[in-house]
Amino acid sequence: MARILAIESSCDETAAAVVADGRRILSSIVASQVNLHAKYGGVVPELASREHLRQIVPVVREALEQAGLTIRDVDAFAVTRGPGLIGSLLVGVTYGKVLAMSTGKPLIAVNHLEGHVHAVLLEAHLAGRQPKLPAVCLIVSGGHTVLYTVRAAAMNGGGLQFSYRRMGQTRDDAAGEAYDKVAKLLALGYPGGPVIDQLAGGAGKDALHLARDIRFGATKMKGNPYDFSFSGLKTAVLYYVRAHPELQPEIDARARALREGRRKAAELLPLCSPQTLAVLLCFQNAVVEELVGRTLAGAKEFSAQSILVSGGVAANSQLRSAFEAEAKRRGLEVFFPSRALSTDNAAMIAAAAYPRFLAGERASADLNAEANLPLA
Ligand code: KG4
Ligand code: ZN
Repeated sequence: MARILAIESSCDETAAAVVADGRRILSSIVASQVNLHAKYGGVVPELASREHLRQIVPVVREALEQAGLTIRDVDAFAVTRGPGLIGSLLVGVTYGKVLAMSTGKPLIAVNHLEGHVHAVLLEAHLAGRQPKLPAVCLIVSGGHTVLYTVRAAAMNGGGLQFSYRRMGQTRDDAAGEAYDKVAKLLALGYPGGPVIDQLAGGAGKDALHLARDIRFGATKMKGNPYDFSFSGLKTAVLYYVRAHPELQPEIDARARALREGRRKAAELLPLCSPQTLAVLLCFQNAVVEELVGRTLAGAKEFSAQSILVSGGVAANSQLRSAFEAEAKRRGLEVFFPSRALSTDNAAMIAAAAYPRFLAGERASADLNAEANLPLA
């Protein structure tokens, strides 16, 4: 058995996990900084790296404790090398190197995006399912919106070697970023995705009726049909709000509620008119259509056998049901991680490291963080 202790610090979560043989999660600790960044409406890089520095040692210690292990029981270390915020990545990479060097154990460098792909494979395994490959994987979070093909080839020794090709990516904002910006505009707090998801889901008859008159059309783009775009949609919401000054009093009321710490969807819902809920519905419909439409077209073009969806936005309930319905119609299987594995975590980094560990891949002593590290 190989026990890998992984560290993830690419954005605003300090995470450590121990995973056995790339599949059994012995522990997974995530210290989120979301409260720290909430009042700025987005991640502040300088604050993030400082917080990682504070958290990294206790988080790793807790991951070992929960797994019932000491550092000597670990067979290898893994760390996210990129992409992400450079100052944040450096904290994890440096600590990973320290752990590997001081124990004489191997260190494996992992691409954060490959981690998100493996989050889906890990979850499927926990549920006793196995996605058929080749697949397409949509990674959709606050920092990324990108579509990859995923293949695997058997290696000598029984492991798998995964390979990826990028089919398309966002040309402007990430989908989660669009959620966060729309939430900021309408005073719904940060992060915006979970609240908008719940509010749109709770929209009643009046909102559904009003939504019929709002047009946030799909973005028309030339070139790669698998590229995404969300900034036009965000601007459409902005123009709608400007054109409807009657929305301002409720925006002010919600801003007050947020300042007083009332941030839950259930607390904000009474402060949302049917018109606002209609805007949220139409926004979310457009995001879901953009993501599902292009991903399914990509799956068809690539003759994919399954669809994998990962990243924070993969938790969206409407996105999940739309993918499930569309995939079923086309005889494809679709896989999502659980909520805990959708957002940034270190278990997915350990899972991605495992085939590389088996293949004998080792990070060199001069390993460095790379903010723009591509997967393919
Ligand atoms: O993967 P993640 O935790 O962090 C990175 O960006 O890497 O994703 C966070 C993003 C945020 O933009 C958040 O608004 C969005 O995922 N998000 C959602 C939902 N839950 C989180 N977006 C839509 N619906 C959700 N239920
Ligand atoms: Zn991520």
